[in-house]
Amino acid sequence: MRHFLTLKDYSKKEILQIIKLGFKIKKRLKKGKQKPYLKKQTLAMIFEKSSTRTRMSFEIGMYQLGGHAVFLSSNDSQLGRGEPMKDTARVISRMADMVMIRTFSQESLEEFAKYATVPVINGLTDLYHPVQLLADYMTMVEYGKSKNPVVAYVGDGNNMTHSWMWMAAKLGFELRIASPKGYEADGVVIHETLTEAKKSGAKITFFHDPAEAVKDADVVTTDTWISMGQEEEKEQRIKDFEGFIVDEAMMKLAKDDAIFLHCLPAYRGYEVSENVLEGKQSVIFDEAENRLHAQKGLMVWLDRQR
Ligand code: CP
Ligand code: NVA
Repeated sequence: MRHFLTLKDYSKKEILQIIKLGFKIKKRLKKGKQKPYLKKQTLAMIFEKSSTRTRMSFEIGMYQLGGHAVFLSSNDSQLGRGEPMKDTARVISRMADMVMIRTFSQESLEEFAKYATVPVINGLTDLYHPVQLLADYMTMVEYGKSKNPVVAYVGDGNNMTHSWMWMAAKLGFELRIASPKGYEADGVVIHETLTEAKKSGAKITFFHDPAEAVKDADVVTTDTWISMGQEEEKEQRIKDFEGFIVDEAMMKLAKDDAIFLHCLPAYRGYEVSENVLEGKQSVIFDEAENRLHAQKGLMVWLDRQR
């Protein structure tokens, strides 16, 4: 049995298998020939943070695969009243066939997975957002950006950055990250992904000037400056991220046919301008839709590993 807690635990071959399965399932759905791969199975979804895309894609995805999803939030479950992750994990494992969790620390996700006897999926932690990267890479494939791409990530060194770093390190592509001073990626993740990059041939480089990172890139991406849980730092962050908006001038530095990705939700006028978000290089809604297909691929893949 496998969990999906971070891309670090996955080989290039496995990541590509999951994505391939996502494409197959997407094609079947579009033709109206969806197969009930997970008939009568159940997915428990635990949310300790807000969500639109993650909840929709997992819940609808599970239904389309012939199963059922159950939504639990910390506000209205016993988790919010202090029931430990390790107890919750053992209870839910007795009932559900799979679990998806969105929580704060990667450690509490790992604690849950340690005690769970069914596959556990990371639906976002402060450290990683690996399911988003499955959809992002799927979108790159669809737009012809998977052959030796140069990806530029502009912004906060956060869960999205770390997941991009692992994706690049595993698949072997070039990733350039530009963050303001003091908002760089986590040191341990930098060390581990650079070690992996040596094996895969990936190139991961770091900048403080976004223009340097974006120059001639095939894919430009960013994320909010204020992640969930950082609301109190909002004013300071807005000051510190000055000059890091992905606007038309910045997109002009990338290749003419570069695509723009954003995991969403996006904050117009902060990390990205209205014109870029709504412009012709932006493929953000294809990317959001691919959450559904990629995660269905993931759930079917995990089910096959038991
Ligand atoms: N991108 C993403 O995970 O969106 P939600 O927070 O809406 O789930
Ligand atoms: N970095 C963001 C991603 C939201 C999908 C956050 O953690 O809030």
